[in-house]
Amino acid sequence: MRWRSSHLPLLLVLLLSLLTLTPAKSESTTSEFRICSYNIQKFNKEKAKDYRMMNTLTRVVYRCDICLLQDVVDPDGSVIKALLKSINSMESERYDGFVYKSVSSKPLGKSATDMQKYVFIYREQTASVIGQHQYESKPQVFTRAPFAVHFQSMKTRVNKFVLVPLHSDPAQAVQEMNQLYDVFETVTKLWDNLNVMFLGDFHAGCAYMKKTDKKNIKLFANTSFSWLIGDKVDTTVREDTSCPFDRIVVHGRVFLKAVVPYSAKVFNIGRELKIQRKRVCLPV
Ligand SMILES: *[C@@H]1O[C@H](CO)[C@@H](O)[C@H](O)[C@H]1NC(C)=O
Repeated sequence: MRWRSSHLPLLLVLLLSLLTLTPAKSESTTSEFRICSYNIQKFNKEKAKDYRMMNTLTRVVYRCDICLLQDVVDPDGSVIKALLKSINSMESERYDGFVYKSVSSKPLGKSATDMQKYVFIYREQTASVIGQHQYESKPQVFTRAPFAVHFQSMKTRVNKFVLVPLHSDPAQAVQEMNQLYDVFETVTKLWDNLNVMFLGDFHAGCAYMKKTDKKNIKLFANTSFSWLIGDKVDTTVREDTSCPFDRIVVHGRVFLKAVVPYSAKVFNIGRELKIQRKRVCLPV
């Protein structure tokens, strides 16, 4: 049987771990602070009713201290409410009774039929939100301008850091990635914090960003920024493509040193949670 890969958005999540103040005693997952990024692709009311999908998503989010969801279609907030309810009712002894909260942008987009929210779901015990900012520019370069969130986590060595999400429009990917430098300047001034991380589906590869485009992207040209997901990483679910669309970029040495070396990677949900592809397949 052939899988229709374009309907398998649940398979890949980006993951990165921050070093924590208490050194890891074992392989235990709770000794790291995990940040995840996930393009969930049209996560709307209908999909939220799919029990299997919600179950998978719940297990994914539960592995992260902070999880960025992109492409959330949730004008009245009911979809995320349902997801939080599912996450916060995880009670078996395998789980630790963590409580999750969310912070969301408003619906963003240029067409009424494609309005998407950025949503951060975070673990109350290890992270808190100390600021949020919807970036705007004139003229507006972004289709979905980054919604930056200032987080605090006593568990991490950096303590306070800014997450800047981007789900770019493929046709504008290079201009949007370049504009992230302006977002950087805005948020560092706003919160007086240089620990900034960019994450999301930038469409940073293949037809949308060629090698020669890099010199036109300040975050590539400036060595203060470290691209932790490299050009050779495949972040697409399709077997016949290999493109590094999803990325994580960190500013500065302080923040870079707070990242667990080589922890930035693609997490294959199907493989890791031992879910067959079929089970995470979404209805068309
Ligand atoms: C690179 O970015 C840093 C921000 O950390 C800035 O201070 C510096 O001027 C930039 N360098 C160039 C060449 O633009």
